[in-house]
Amino acid sequence: MDTKQSLAALIAETIEECYMGIDGLPTADEISGFLEIPPQKEMGDYAFPCFKLSKVLRKGPPMIASTLAGAIGANDLARAEQMGGYLNFFLQRDNFAQKTLETVLASGEAYGSGTEGEGKTICLDYSSINIAKRFHIGHLSTTMLGHSIARIYRFLGYKTVGINHLGDWGSQFGKMIYAYKTWGTREEVEKNGVPELTRLYVKFHEEAEKDPSLDDEGRRWFKAIEEGDEEALSLFNWFKELTLRDAKPVYDMLGVEFDSYNGESFYVDKTDAVVEELTEKNLLTLSEGAKVVDLDEENSGMPPCIIIKKDGTTIYATRDIAAALYRKKTYDFDKCLYVVAYQQDLHFRQWFKVIEKMGYEWSRDLVHVAFGMISYEGQSLSTRKGHVLYLEDVLNMAIEKARAIIEEKSSNLENKDEVARQVGIGAVVYADLQNGRIKDIDFHWDRVLSFDGESGPYVQYTHARCCSALRKAEGLEAVEPDYSALSDDYAQELLRQLSRFPETVREAASRYEPSIITRAVTELCKAYNKFYYENRIMVDEAPVREARVRLTRAVKNTIKTGLYLIGMEAPERM
Ligand code: ARG
Repeated sequence: MDTKQSLAALIAETIEECYMGIDGLPTADEISGFLEIPPQKEMGDYAFPCFKLSKVLRKGPPMIASTLAGAIGANDLARAEQMGGYLNFFLQRDNFAQKTLETVLASGEAYGSGTEGEGKTICLDYSSINIAKRFHIGHLSTTMLGHSIARIYRFLGYKTVGINHLGDWGSQFGKMIYAYKTWGTREEVEKNGVPELTRLYVKFHEEAEKDPSLDDEGRRWFKAIEEGDEEALSLFNWFKELTLRDAKPVYDMLGVEFDSYNGESFYVDKTDAVVEELTEKNLLTLSEGAKVVDLDEENSGMPPCIIIKKDGTTIYATRDIAAALYRKKTYDFDKCLYVVAYQQDLHFRQWFKVIEKMGYEWSRDLVHVAFGMISYEGQSLSTRKGHVLYLEDVLNMAIEKARAIIEEKSSNLENKDEVARQVGIGAVVYADLQNGRIKDIDFHWDRVLSFDGESGPYVQYTHARCCSALRKAEGLEAVEPDYSALSDDYAQELLRQLSRFPETVREAASRYEPSIITRAVTELCKAYNKFYYENRIMVDEAPVREARVRLTRAVKNTIKTGLYLIGMEAPERM
């Protein structure tokens, strides 16, 4: 039982004692849910709002608070004080230190994990890159958010299915085949990969400006793909293979893997069934030659969702609907998350609504996990204006810059290359998951790689500092710790943060918000560094030293776990 639960049990017991025989008294679990963390430290470590009881007890909150404060009296968990309608608790510091450290250290790096997700599956549609385009920095957020959210859910016992919903369908692939056959060679494409495909595609558009009949050629080749023409398909699959081959080093650097690469093309042959079902359910109407689902009758303010275009082809949304039905059938998900930029908000609201109108109550389990835009050193990035930044280049630049800093700061480190990789990539990941996901990100190297701001290197450095302190303590005789050595404000603040970590993880999960973990880990590091400056760890009194070493170990484990959950590595030396 953690401190909060113990406190809730104590309150429940006291309520029973004081108000015996009254119906509807809250359980310890309910009380745990009511417990608040006071806004100021002077108001204690936890507060119980007594107005939650006044209805059942027919008494004013201050009255209840004062009765309970009197009855709780002195005990070794916490001192209780009435303040207005609140019952404020001041934890008994030695005891709190002991309990917290015992709990944290008993679980090691699994501290904060859980089993509440057992038997449940979460599908995550993320990264979802587009074929024949290079992996650019605009796809960083979806990739890292999805990766992190998947780790967080697995940590809580859920099964996750990571899906890279490839953008591999559309008329552009017909144009690309034409361009390749007209101006390309196999050698060039094999040698230069995706950039060569991009060059051919750009060339197509330049030529088509002069000769519009090329568009017909493009359409013809796309039709050939649709009809399963052998040559068209084999070229199309080759383009796909090249794109994934190009993305592989980036995924490897980030440690990202997927369970499925079923992209848009996978669902093309499953859209007929969608149209049939929509027809059967009387949901399709004709609008300017297109078949659409009208969404406005409930004053949603949304335009109709197009299912079949005038020319008889399906669109992005149709394939998403087919994909959702397929995923529900295949994985029986508890939730299906779509980690996609907020610009696609309307798209998701529209087709989620279509699923709802089809009568599937699981439409409420479809979640668009939206995020903001990324700019680079103050400049916005757009493929169209030719202002692209490839993720592979950014990561390599980060590694190189980290390497230079490490060279300067700790020139006798043995595994500099390894650490430069961990720090460089970690810095980029941290910057990406630092703030609430809906916020736009401006990526600045000096901030990203700073060792003493809120940054990846700062957090990793604190972890390495803990490791170094623990190395010094290795092999010393084991003694019983003196927990009263942890009753200073700095140690207590650390313990408080440690004790809240499990809740932090759950909050991050329920809000699909890795930044909650990034922030908690950063705060933990700040608190540890303050503690470290105020207290010597390797003191002569063995029981005091042992208490501080244990606290350091608990902090180290928790930083490492937090970093893991946001997709970062934790070097032991820096
Ligand atoms: N490929 C799309 C893009 O880059 C994202 C796909 C998101 N997933 C989905 N099921 N629609 O914008």
